[in-house]
Amino acid sequence: MTREKELNALHEIIHSCRLCPLHETRTNAVPGEGPINAQLFFIGEAPGAQEDDTGKPFVGRSGKLLISMIEEIGLSREDVFISSILNCRPPKNRTPKLSEIELCRPYVEKQIELINPRIIVLLGRVAIYSIVGPWKVTESHGRFFEAKGRTYFMTFHPAAALRSSSVKDLMRADFRILQSELL
Ligand code: URA
Repeated sequence: MTREKELNALHEIIHSCRLCPLHETRTNAVPGEGPINAQLFFIGEAPGAQEDDTGKPFVGRSGKLLISMIEEIGLSREDVFISSILNCRPPKNRTPKLSEIELCRPYVEKQIELINPRIIVLLGRVAIYSIVGPWKVTESHGRFFEAKGRTYFMTFHPAAALRSSSVKDLMRADFRILQSELL
């Protein structure tokens, strides 16, 4: 099977996943999307209302900000892979539970294996915690981190940047660091 077919098969599994109770409240599972050869792989937290409605990741307000930052560094949505730790929306956008993270993380790990990106960008506390451990985003943002044969880059979640213009400035500066690594 080609990597693309394997990715499609994985996404079929995610669409019918019933591993945790979030399948009872979701409208659509949101498996993430992007090209099979993406060099950058972004990981957020969990789908929100608009993602749940459409089945597409990062299409709401946070998504618009994320995509504008991706465009500011000379890339487009079509160039990168965008995913989240959870594939289903938690009710009222509450923080993901540890049990949900444990059950859902293998999906994003499989996506990473299939895409084999150059850099994995962890957006915010939940992505950082779930993938590399309990680092504080305020202390670890703007930094690369090597682990398990992969390169991670840590920055804020765009929802935090929407709440604070100083976080937005820090996130923009992080994206410039990311851009200089890609040159
Ligand atoms: N926030 C996320 O972390 N993921 C999405 O898909 C949308 C908003």
